[in-house]
Parts: sequence; C-alpha cells; structure tokens
Amino acid sequence: MKSVISPLDLDVEEVNDLMDLGSRIMADPKKYSHMCDGKILATLFYEPSTRTRLSFEAAMLRLGGKTMGFASADSSSATKGETVADTIRVISSFADICAMRHPKEGAPAVAAANSTIPVINAGDGGHQHPTQTLTDLFTIRSLKGRLDNLVVGFCGDLKFGRTVHSLIRALVNYKNVRFIFISPKELMIPDYIRNDLLIEKGIPFEEVTQLEDILPRLDILYMTRVQRERFFNEEDYVRLKDFYILDKKKMELAREDMLVLHPLPRVNEISVEVDKDPRAVYFKQVEYGMYIRMALILHLLELDTGI
Ligand code: NCD
Repeated sequence: MKSVISPLDLDVEEVNDLMDLGSRIMADPKKYSHMCDGKILATLFYEPSTRTRLSFEAAMLRLGGKTMGFASADSSSATKGETVADTIRVISSFADICAMRHPKEGAPAVAAANSTIPVINAGDGGHQHPTQTLTDLFTIRSLKGRLDNLVVGFCGDLKFGRTVHSLIRALVNYKNVRFIFISPKELMIPDYIRNDLLIEKGIPFEEVTQLEDILPRLDILYMTRVQRERFFNEEDYVRLKDFYILDKKKMELAREDMLVLHPLPRVNEISVEVDKDPRAVYFKQVEYGMYIRMALILHLLELDTGI
C-alpha cells in the first residue's frame, strides 16, 4: 500500500507512467469509466479548496467510483479535538483511498503512517502539493512535448507557495532545467529549497525582482498568487499582493511559444485580458489535473488498466 505525500514518493519512471496513463485516459475516457466501480474515495479537506477537491471527486466519479468527505475542518470532528491519526483510522474502514488537505505541514504524512488505505497529500500548509505538481508536469509535457531543456520562471509568492516548492523538487530530476525565480525580497524561495536542493544538486538558478527583463528568456512562466492566509500581518499582504501583474503588454515581451501556467485561484496577478492569449494555459491545466488524478487513483488502488 503506497501513499503520495511528497513528489519524492514518485520516481521519474513512475511519473512518466502516470502521464502516459493520463494521456490514454484523456484520449479514451469511456474505456476507464468503470474501473473503480465499487470503490470509495474519501476527501478530507481541513482547508478551503475548490479545484483540488472537486478535481479528485470528478476523477473518482469518472472512473465509476463514489466519493464522500468533508470540505472544511468546521464540519469534521477536528472541532471536538480528534487527531488526524484517529480520523484516518476510522476513514480506513469506510473508504478505499483518501485525499487530504491540511493547514499543518506534515499532517498527511501522519495520516499515512496511521492508515491502512493509500493517502494522497492534497496540500499541507506551505509545504508540498504533489498532485498539483503532477498536473503541472503533465501540462508541460503535453503542450511542450518535453520536461527537459527548459527555462522555467516562477513568479510571485515563492516563499509560501507550496505548488512552487513541489514543482521545483520534481523538475530538478530532468536534464538541463534552469530556474529563474522572480519575487519581491520578502517572498523569495525558502532556504531549504535554495541550499538543500538547488545548490546541493548544482542546479542553475537566478533570483530577480523584475519580471519584464527576464520574460524573453522563458519557456514556461509559472505565476502564483500571494498566499494571504499564510501571512502574519495584513499590512505586508496588502503591500505585496499586486507586486506582479501579468498583462497583455508584458506578454508582448515573451516568446511565441512560452506557456503561462498558474495553479489557480488567480487573484490579480494575471489580468483577464491575458486569458485569450493562446500561451495562457491555466484553464487547460485544470483539465490535465483531473486526468492525472484519475491515473494516480488507478495506480494507487493497483487496478489493472489492461495495458
Ligand atoms: C494551490 C494551493 O492550494 O496550494 N491551489 C491549488 O491547489 N490549485 C494554489 C493556491 O492556493 O494559490
């Protein structure tokens, strides 16, 4: 029984297999529509979510399975003081697989250690978000045709953005990927990413504050919102929230084949006029997210996909 808590729980080969399966499902969804008949996915969301929770639920429903769960800590026994370890023991006897989001870093890992069913981390605090990473990798591979030889720009809240931390961790496994981190000084990537991962592995990266200057060099621009809920004071948030706004004018500086990704939700960091630009793929990214979650559920439930 395997759980997915960090992108490190899946090696490059497994990720490739998942993306291959995701592509096959996308090409012929009907073929997979009963593979999870009789199976139940529990979605335990202690923190708000629209996309991720519904994407997991849509994935399970499209595989023929059923879903149950809660969408906020208020509506669970967490309000009575129940621990995550106890909750997962109980859920293990109700469901076959579980997706958990929690504001505390490490909570899904605690759940996995106490579970008899696979646990998927659907985001823990400012830490990791492995299924968003699978979504991002699958989007890039599908639309760009490769995951190596890329210049990837991450822009916005690189300090608190868990999708950023997870995606960097996964991309370092591919050849000749260079990073450009674009953020205000206050929101730079954490030291454990800079020192323990990038410097340690000798991965080339730059840290800048100006978006315009580096736009022409990018293959991928990964925009993020400033994570208001992880700020200690509102004043800092207000000062930093509109630091970057990607608009039509800035897009003119970018290459014809650059892709703009965003994990969503968007606040102000991409103006809506950019949505029409064919390089803006963040809504398509959501679709890839559902298919890759279908592939992951099949994989973790060890269901025979007949291939
Ligand atoms: C992200 C998250 O929850 O970390 N959203 C998502 O899952 N697509 C990004 C965010 O909230 O900014």
